[in-house]
Amino acid sequence: MALMFKSTGDDPVGWKKYLDEYGAGVEMRVWPDVGRLEDIEYALVWRPEPGDLKRYPNLKAIFSMAAGVDHIFLDKELPKGVPVCRIKDSDLTAQMSEYAIYGVLHYHRHMAGYAKAQSESAWQKHPRGDTTRTDVGVMGVGEIGGDTARKLAALGFRVHGWSRTAKTIPGITVHHGLDRLPAFLGTCRQVICVLPLTAATDGILNARTFAQMPKGSFLISMGRGRHIVDADLIAALDSGQLAGAMLDVFHKEPLPSDHPFWRHPKVIVTPHIAGDLNPRTCAMQVAENIKRHKKGEALKNVVNPDAGY
Ligand code: NDP
Ligand code: OXD
Repeated sequence: MALMFKSTGDDPVGWKKYLDEYGAGVEMRVWPDVGRLEDIEYALVWRPEPGDLKRYPNLKAIFSMAAGVDHIFLDKELPKGVPVCRIKDSDLTAQMSEYAIYGVLHYHRHMAGYAKAQSESAWQKHPRGDTTRTDVGVMGVGEIGGDTARKLAALGFRVHGWSRTAKTIPGITVHHGLDRLPAFLGTCRQVICVLPLTAATDGILNARTFAQMPKGSFLISMGRGRHIVDADLIAALDSGQLAGAMLDVFHKEPLPSDHPFWRHPKVIVTPHIAGDLNPRTCAMQVAENIKRHKKGEALKNVVNPDAGY
């Protein structure tokens, strides 16, 4: 019995150490040196090669080396009936919320303006924003966005959430469904996007939705790059419809050096670091799922392939 490990950036040595420590009890084979295809029962992957996973006739479960699973569903030939499990990790969630809160406070407290003023030795105050009257929206209030929303509410912001299905989060106004998107966006001075990438959310931040946001509002994007239509974001920033955007995720990563986001004065670019998966904490749930599978118990954190997340 073996686990196939495939990633473009993660370290198999670290994962193996913790999978062994947590008693997964599987041999790790690092792609492409996978040996006999029949031996592979589990796959632990970040951006698997499309068409690769269907080659393993005894594959029992696919583990995403990420909270997101879009990188797996990109493969249109996934083996049928093999469950896909995501990562749910409090350390990752906390990092993501930190990133969003940093962005909100950066814009709320005019920190870019003060950096510019300092470069000109200018003692220049900006009008203070009233936190308790500032509406901040979180698109996607699941594992990560729910935590972000609660933490922003604890800081005193008026927080709104947007989800696919109805939900109640104490202290947060949650809208759901496409019909409520304009009302949600129309309220928020800052919008954080932490949606999963699915057929329904691909390109959801576009000229139409930017126009629904109040003039001069801000975007913090940390879900996936493909949520944004890049040319529409640049146009919205150039026209002043949006005042700034902090972007962690992009259509193509690394962001090509000639992409206009790098040099746009209203854009902050970070290299997909909002949340950095830690094998020490995440290997535990993969090991637990392997042990559960061996005992015939239901797997945890299985995603819904129809919804795509
Ligand atoms: P969850 O699945 O826990 O939550 C997803 C949320 O999005 C839910 O509230 C869900 O609604 C909502 N949603 C999904 N589809 C729609 C839709 N069509 N319309 C409205 N709302 C929708 O995911 P996580 O919070 O764990 O992670 C979200 C994403 O963050 C990941 O998929 C990944 O892409 C990204 N991510 C980025 C990282 C980074 O470093 N930049 C690190 C980690 C994650 P409902 O509640 O109704 O299901
Ligand atoms: C994730 C990510 O989805 O790192 O976990 O982007």
